[in-house]
Amino acid sequence: MTESGLKGKTILITGAAGFIGAALAYRLLQQEPEIRIIGIDNLNDYYDPALKEARLSRLKDDRFAFIKADIADPETLPALFAQYHPQLVIHLAAQAGVRYSIDHPEAYIQSNIVGFFRILEACRHNHTEHLVYASSSSVYGDSDVFPFGEEQNTDHPVSLYAATKKSDEMLAESYAALYGIPATGLRLFTVYGPWGRPDMAYFSFADRLTHGETIRLFNYGNCDRDFTYIDDITEGICSVLLYPPEAAVPHRIFNIGKGSPDRLLDFVSVLAEKLKESGSLPQDFDLEAHTEYLPMQKGDVRTTYADTSQLEAVTGYHPHTDLKTGLEEFSKWYTAYRKK
Ligand SMILES: NC(=O)c1ccc[n+]([C@@H]2O[C@H](COP(=O)([O-])OP(=O)(O)OC[C@H]3O[C@@H](n4cnc5c(N)ncnc54)[C@H](O)[C@@H]3O)[C@@H](O)[C@H]2O)c1
Repeated sequence: MTESGLKGKTILITGAAGFIGAALAYRLLQQEPEIRIIGIDNLNDYYDPALKEARLSRLKDDRFAFIKADIADPETLPALFAQYHPQLVIHLAAQAGVRYSIDHPEAYIQSNIVGFFRILEACRHNHTEHLVYASSSSVYGDSDVFPFGEEQNTDHPVSLYAATKKSDEMLAESYAALYGIPATGLRLFTVYGPWGRPDMAYFSFADRLTHGETIRLFNYGNCDRDFTYIDDITEGICSVLLYPPEAAVPHRIFNIGKGSPDRLLDFVSVLAEKLKESGSLPQDFDLEAHTEYLPMQKGDVRTTYADTSQLEAVTGYHPHTDLKTGLEEFSKWYTAYRKK
């Protein structure tokens, strides 16, 4: 497929009210006039559903149809495919988060395993041209080989969330082998930005600081993470959508992340600076007085970042948003959203 390969296409986005799904739908509506997007989301209350509704309200457009339903429900996807005939599927619906799985393991099996199986079945019976689905950097577990490369062993997940994402990769591989469904799995690294997820660390740092509370930085803030700005992720997803795999077993997996780590300490200090500039924090805010430095937690990984050369080789994709730019956009949005 070429750049105009999306012209006239109907694209199904699952998790369309989520952080990445809504940003992706927004981008596609902006950049491709002749497109139709079907969004599905069950609007669950893992985090505030009002934020999900607010994201959807930005997508009001004749070219966008939203369906509130659960992908794990056996009736939902067959009916949706029969009505809309999407040729391309971007599957982002999932139960995310690592800690939540301790008390809610069922949610991960339902959404991430049963839900993914229903997506694969729907793609199988409707000859989907390309399924792009979200996996996660968490499949790398406790690996200390950096940067993480796709060929690395990922057989040792350290959370149920990671185990479900790894299972999805295996299920997609088997459906590609059995039925020739072209599928691309994307292992996403920490994504941040406007309209982001309140359960993620950077967002709760913003919440705590603006409420005058203290944030806790483990390993004294000396952790390196591949913080990836949302626009770089949606750009990568759009670019890979145009290149369905053509191998005999048409399934492949790419890392998608900034590809260069930032130190948590730097991330937090830029965040506080940008929250000051946008008016969420007072000009004389003392970050040090609101930061507790703690030793490394058991099971924490000091560094994670992606080798993205495989994705770059296929699509030319190159993430370019630096921390200052990305956190400025986040802080401006966060400040305005809090005032509503
Ligand atoms: N944000 C990140 O940093 C990150 C990192 C790695 C992987 N990912 C993956 O990327 C994808 C999108 O993540 P996000 O950050 O936008 O998360 P999100 O939680 O904001 O979005 C997921 C959406 O899926 C919906 N959903 C969940 N289960 C569903 C079901 N059974 N039926 C219908 N809808 C359902 C939720 O209501 C939510 O709106 C997920 O698969 C996630 O695991 C995200």
